[in-house]
Amino acid sequence: MNTSTTTSAARGTWGSRLTFILAAAGSAIGLGNIWRFPIATAEGGGGAFVLIYILCAAFVGLPVMLAEMVVGRAGERNPVGAIAHLGNGTNWRWIGGLGVLASFIVLSFYSVISGWTIYYMISASIGTFKETLDTDAFFAKLVAHPGKEIFYHGIFMIVTILTVAAGIRNGIERTIKIAMPILGLVLLVLLVRAVTLPGALEGLTYYLMPDFSKVTANTVLQALAQAFFSLSLGMGAIVTYGSYLRKNESLPTSAGYVVVMDTTVALLAGCIIFPALVYANLPLDKAGPGLIFQVLPQVFVQLPWQPWGGIFFGATFFLLLSIAAYTSAISLLEVSVSYFVDEKGWNRKKAAWTLGGGAFLLGIPSALSLGAVNWLTELPGIGMSLIDLLSGPLTDGALVLGALGLSLFVGWKWGLKRALVEIRKGSPEFKLTSIWAASIRFVAPVAISMILAFQLYSLFASDTPAEENSEDPVIETANF
Ligand code: PHE
Repeated sequence: MNTSTTTSAARGTWGSRLTFILAAAGSAIGLGNIWRFPIATAEGGGGAFVLIYILCAAFVGLPVMLAEMVVGRAGERNPVGAIAHLGNGTNWRWIGGLGVLASFIVLSFYSVISGWTIYYMISASIGTFKETLDTDAFFAKLVAHPGKEIFYHGIFMIVTILTVAAGIRNGIERTIKIAMPILGLVLLVLLVRAVTLPGALEGLTYYLMPDFSKVTANTVLQALAQAFFSLSLGMGAIVTYGSYLRKNESLPTSAGYVVVMDTTVALLAGCIIFPALVYANLPLDKAGPGLIFQVLPQVFVQLPWQPWGGIFFGATFFLLLSIAAYTSAISLLEVSVSYFVDEKGWNRKKAAWTLGGGAFLLGIPSALSLGAVNWLTELPGIGMSLIDLLSGPLTDGALVLGALGLSLFVGWKWGLKRALVEIRKGSPEFKLTSIWAASIRFVAPVAISMILAFQLYSLFASDTPAEENSEDPVIETANF
């Protein structure tokens, strides 16, 4: 292992703190916010779930995010190299290894789903939803004849590769500077449209009115797992982005901004979706995993000022989703690229094309697993589709394990003292020392262990109500 050849100067740095915050927020804001969060909220008791989510994000997500940024910046390397370096080459580097592997696997199916969003964006733009009101059939056709699906998966991956191959400044930073303002604008346009629809208040009430009777222990764990995925934690993405930060930037402030931005977008996504569902007279409690690709297209064709209203807002919504997915995907690819560049001495272009190409190939079986190939659709002995297995238990398991390992590493192995020295380089005034220390040493590890225990429990115990609710925090395609 070669952890010292590439210095920070050669690796590149972010142009400013703002671009780092935008890049990290771009990583965090993704399919998890716009797709899964509103569904989880509606299922988990509306405002009650939002409250629990905010507590999880603030008291567990934020401290872990800060820890990841610290490890990245202090280690000045990819997750494996950073941990090996800070822990003096100890075996803790497996935590980074897990992140590299997990981000690569997540990228493979994330790109497949992102391909769907591009296809839907194009379909909406050319008015296809007008004729194809049977949106279930529309989706089924896409995934059952996967030529198109794989084509768009490929397009999405190529754009992601090109961005990462161009480097931190010329690729990722440049993209982020354009993509994030567009994302904000598009979100605003959709929000204004949604909350001015007749029935908006009813939708918002359903979405946000706290119903504590729906809250169970499972709801809390769901909220926590959702927070980890949504904040891009446990997979090395924030460590990697943090490694391109300069020493004089304030890490706590940056982490705070990212958490606030991510949570705000998640909340706003629901404020767009629920009023729209009420307007189109669609059942709110059925807002399950098929929400985006099967239910929403039925809303667009009913909006005022047809056909243009439907075309415009349909295309805009899928543009929002595509941009959000794109800025997350580049961070996923960057994790393994930085590993091969730092540790194996590959050049960035070679790493981006090889790893992106690999993730593309790995994504193909996922693309085929929703009806095109039977044994992938129902994996023998497992009883779920490959894309569900990967996006559900495997991703969740890997990311909570990664976050647990990282908290233990910072809290107990590398040490809080050293971490604080690193934090103070950019923010000498950092005061929340004991709260952060308590969270990283105790609160986060205990909370994360509980999710892990629960995941294992629901994997082995069947037919319990707990299992019924234990949905993947991000995407659950099983019920499509
Ligand atoms: N946070 C992203 C989302 O909400 C997904 C992601 C996870 C991206 C981990 C990078 C690393 O969709």
